[in-house]
Amino acid sequence: MSPKHLLSVRDLSPTRIKELVEQSVVDGIPVCDSLPQAPAVAMIFMEPSTRTRTSFELAAKALGRRTVVLGSKESSLSKDETLWDTMLNLHAMGCEVFILRSSADVDIESLRSFSVGPLINAGAGMMEHPTQALLDLATIWNKTAGRSWETLKKQRWVMVGDLKRSRVAGSWSALAEMLGLDLHFVSPPEWAPETLAPGQTWTDNLEKGLQGATGLISLRVQKERFAEGQTWNPRELEAYVKNYQITAKHLKKGDGLWMMHPGPVNWGVELEASLLNYDKSLILEQVAHGMKIRSRLLYDLLR
Ligand code: CP
Repeated sequence: MSPKHLLSVRDLSPTRIKELVEQSVVDGIPVCDSLPQAPAVAMIFMEPSTRTRTSFELAAKALGRRTVVLGSKESSLSKDETLWDTMLNLHAMGCEVFILRSSADVDIESLRSFSVGPLINAGAGMMEHPTQALLDLATIWNKTAGRSWETLKKQRWVMVGDLKRSRVAGSWSALAEMLGLDLHFVSPPEWAPETLAPGQTWTDNLEKGLQGATGLISLRVQKERFAEGQTWNPRELEAYVKNYQITAKHLKKGDGLWMMHPGPVNWGVELEASLLNYDKSLILEQVAHGMKIRSRLLYDLLR
């Protein structure tokens, strides 16, 4: 039987997504006694990470698993060893679950036939970041929708920023389509998404895009993914801030909009710096739900 990979949110059924969210929110972080001979969890991080890497590592350790963390620069990936060979070698040393943050030159789908153990996508280039979308979902299901899927379906969520290069946008779009959530997008025209799922809309007008919103999900401008030679000069930054930075003026309407961001945040670029203490910010709650969702996923895989 093939291992249960999680490369896309579409690898989960809507029922399983809801179950994961509910278990992670209601039951919290599962803990197991350490087993001396327990298989290890391999974490291959080809790009930098703070939240995803730390939460997976802490989750694996709470479940009594040893972890090995490899980056591309200090491992033999830098000597052109393939990811496939790297994972086979890690398996030969006792690793049974593989967590991968892959760079944009890796086709994560090409690893679907990897059969020695489950592979979890911890952020793949500009494609998907399924566990980020799941933890975001857990955050809003718990906090803004009173743990009600019906209430959540009535809310309007708006994603603002660098949509073109965002793997979070990719997973959110799929998740919203699967669960019937009301999701819309705002970005400069050159960063618009290439495709939109049915019912999802895009505009380059921030004021218009936020009309009727319950909350927004701000995204970082991913300069590290700009095409080779492409720069972002101070005038372009200024124009972006003027037209697309989220400010208190955008959020503090009526009861106030919920504010989310997957992190890392560039304060003063996509979010006005004064919003650091905004009372409807869910940013750190997202991080806390990341621990719960990733623990639950690992617990179910390792059980
Ligand atoms: N949101 C997110 O994936 O953050 P890290 O890159 O720090 O893991």
